[in-house]
Amino acid sequence: MATRKPLISGNWKMNHTHLDAIAVVQKLAYSLSPADYERAEVSVHPSFTSLRSVQTLLDADEVPIALGAQNVYPAPSGAFTGEVSPVMLAKLNVRYVIVGHSERRQLLGESDEMVNRKLVAVLEHQMVPILCVGETLEEREAGTTQDKVLGQLEAAFQGVDAAAAAKVVIAYEPIWAIGTGRTASPEDAQAVCASVRSWVAKAYGAEVASTTRAQYGGSVTPDNVAELMAQPDIDGALVGGASLDAERFARIARLGTGPA
Ligand code: PGA
Repeated sequence: MATRKPLISGNWKMNHTHLDAIAVVQKLAYSLSPADYERAEVSVHPSFTSLRSVQTLLDADEVPIALGAQNVYPAPSGAFTGEVSPVMLAKLNVRYVIVGHSERRQLLGESDEMVNRKLVAVLEHQMVPILCVGETLEEREAGTTQDKVLGQLEAAFQGVDAAAAAKVVIAYEPIWAIGTGRTASPEDAQAVCASVRSWVAKAYGAEVASTTRAQYGGSVTPDNVAELMAQPDIDGALVGGASLDAERFARIARLGTGPA
């Protein structure tokens, strides 16, 4: 089996001014050691208004934390008032871009087709999409979790070839677990991540599937991260609330090990 280094990503959502963002990243950089970066790759996803400040800090101090964005518009430039293009993100050394987060799908009406266009645009600009998929509570209770997740994958990967698909990080985020303090059990999260990997194998072959990183997201904390990461098909976490505080996020990035 391919060894996949876990990717621990902090999705700050609409939190932290650029000044707060700098303070958090400074603390995070101070807390994490070379051994921690060996164990897991770490990314932070501040709001657009903070990207430049965080990038300057990471570059100046050569901090090995990857810069991430929370969203993108799928065109290089043009008359799209209020949107941010992949060219702009790539120029800021953004490495990871979250695509299709459930909050954008639910609150801002982002369609599967739009998610597909964003995924393609991110790949075309040599960045790495973190594609979010996941079911609502009603869908879980109706037993349609697999249909929902695999349908979202099918739609998001339209027109993406195997070489490009191999780069995509897939984040399984059950909507009922986001921001609720209600985490999926490690077994349930593992089961869905395993079927995500099987879908990749069917669509793109076993080799691509063996390198694909599947994150789990939804109320990840320093206390539950270790057992989630111990699952064979979970290769990282997309962390919202618990990533806002440098100390808590550092503990998650250490996969729950090390000093509390
Ligand atoms: P949460 O958010 O960790 O606050 O549940 C996760 C996410 O939405 O990515």
